[in-house]
Amino acid sequence: MSEQTASQEGKTYPPDAELSKSANVRPEMLEQDLQEFWDEQAKQRLDWFEEYDQVLDWNLPYAKWFVGGKLNACYNCVDRHVEGGKGDKVALHVVPDDGPDSSEARDITFSDLQREVVKMANGLKELGVGKGVPVGIYMQMIPEAVVAMLACARLGAPHTVVFGGFSGKAVAERCNDLECKVLITQDEAMRGGKAGAQKTNADEGLDAGETTVEKIVVVQRTGADIPMSDRDVYLHDLTANVSDDPESCPCEPMDSEDLLFLLYTSGSTGKPKGVVHTTAGYLLGVTTTHNLVFDVKDDSVYWCAADIGWITGHSYITYGPLANGCTSVLFEGVPGYPDKAVWWKIIEKYGVSILYTSPTAIKSHMKAGEEHLQGHDLSSIKILGSVGEPINPDVWEWYREHVGGGKAPIMDTWWQTETGHILITPLPGITTLKPGMAQQPFPGVRPEIRDDEGNQLDVEQTGNLVLTQPWPGMMRTLYKDDQRFKDTYWSKYSDAYFAGDGAKYDADGDIQLMGRIDDVVNVSGHRLSTFEVESALVEHADVAEAAVAARKDDDTGQAIIAFVSLKGDKQGTEELEQALREQVAQSIGKLARPASVIFANDLPKTRSGKIMRRLLKNLAEGEELGDTSTLVDPSVVDEMQKQMKG
Ligand code: WT7
Repeated sequence: MSEQTASQEGKTYPPDAELSKSANVRPEMLEQDLQEFWDEQAKQRLDWFEEYDQVLDWNLPYAKWFVGGKLNACYNCVDRHVEGGKGDKVALHVVPDDGPDSSEARDITFSDLQREVVKMANGLKELGVGKGVPVGIYMQMIPEAVVAMLACARLGAPHTVVFGGFSGKAVAERCNDLECKVLITQDEAMRGGKAGAQKTNADEGLDAGETTVEKIVVVQRTGADIPMSDRDVYLHDLTANVSDDPESCPCEPMDSEDLLFLLYTSGSTGKPKGVVHTTAGYLLGVTTTHNLVFDVKDDSVYWCAADIGWITGHSYITYGPLANGCTSVLFEGVPGYPDKAVWWKIIEKYGVSILYTSPTAIKSHMKAGEEHLQGHDLSSIKILGSVGEPINPDVWEWYREHVGGGKAPIMDTWWQTETGHILITPLPGITTLKPGMAQQPFPGVRPEIRDDEGNQLDVEQTGNLVLTQPWPGMMRTLYKDDQRFKDTYWSKYSDAYFAGDGAKYDADGDIQLMGRIDDVVNVSGHRLSTFEVESALVEHADVAEAAVAARKDDDTGQAIIAFVSLKGDKQGTEELEQALREQVAQSIGKLARPASVIFANDLPKTRSGKIMRRLLKNLAEGEELGDTSTLVDPSVVDEMQKQMKG
């Protein structure tokens, strides 16, 4: 848990008077009844093929929103803007890996986007994709990734995007679980000037066992000569002779509660959870929050620097901004390439007015140094956003000062894969900002902070964050696992959603997030379960047992420490440490690679054979260990401690 003292320092930033007058969000919205608020938003923000007859059907923990309504997410994100005369407006400023000055930088208008989506959808149709036929997407930050999501939505085919940095094994696991027939990927990915394997990763994963995937559609990004089998087809071949006329592929009318996508996320056990998001509630939730939290206007230029492989990319790169008809930047690359000023060049070139990113990215810019911002005109910036992990007050201040010109308000947005959209956030022109705090519930959202017995806690007391009212973008269940859905989120308290985060109120009633309280670790805003990493470690032939904990890290928020006991008389060498780190990178993805591996004869266990996780957490954090007398063999802890110091 982070120890931030923003409220104690007492620094606050009242809203700008001009912004208060012009902001899309109105203070009255906070007073509105839950259903009245969302009903109004639904009528104003979405186009419906058939009107709904009930706003909410709430049968805890199961919610149905906009019951009886019919709509299509792709229609709302693309077609209606073209039909409404905004076809020539830029939807995506596409910035390739080598930056905004690259000859490959290009603009995609809403009309272009419509043609691309129709073409891909027509191609997918030829492979048998249609309403209810699931599709996997394993791509990096190229426009075809957004097109692929929208093409699926157009056809009513649920998608599951697997983060492009994950392993082929992760792709296979997820695609097989959802029973995807088709996987869309790219030949190679470009990041930081280097081409990396993508399609061959997928092959490796799928070929390791039985798979439901019958066809792989490959987008050519680098043109590398990669192995193609009968199972594979290049997108450009698939779509060579298909029509790009929207009438050749009308948007499938979907029920409000039809599955839009599944996104797998880490929980406190090994198996990833398939978070279910449906069409109307999700789309309305992301559209409304994107519009009101970032104060989106007709001429806004918006950049969310997340990855489409995470929920942030789904909600705030693809669905929210496009449904709002907003112009966005889509950047393929990484902060430090081709040079340390690339972000500032992007903001300057396109006149970015809204920037949404993670504390980890901001920290990397702080580390690179202010000199890289100098000489770049960032005066277009109006609103800044932060997401994924708590933001330290000093990082918040730096962001506001150097990126926000000392005046842009920062929206520190708290939400989760499961919540679908932002739930706790300051609001532009309304909230008096406090560095490092997400502060206030969005209209209709009712948080509480409770102790383990269910009592509401006083100010400055850390407890469990819960939500007592439903919201439209909430996860509907875990795919094929209602029981786990109930157990994980709705059983700690009988009347509320249990988020898994610690939080506290300050004296003004503002909320401060304190970090996860379960076995989920957060590395650079990416969520991993300790059990997932442990499973990857024990796959190595030399490993008997493994347990994973996290320590604080200045750059990545948390860093993973692996505690490992070896089989027989195997020795914990530096080579083995490297091999194990590599093993995790291979099995899950590079971001899960442990910062260090600590070897011991055994793991600290109680007499009943349970690993004492609390102790490992303390060890990882370098904290006092407290009572170790219940351990079978307290000497293993001494051994570990020695290594941690060494
Ligand atoms: C977990 C959810 C939300 C999209 C990206 C991550 C942490 C998220 C904040 C914030 C403090 C935050 C929480 C949450 N988190 N935003 N503004 N302040 N913590 O989605 O991978 O589902 O992770 O990220 O711990 O539970 P996710």
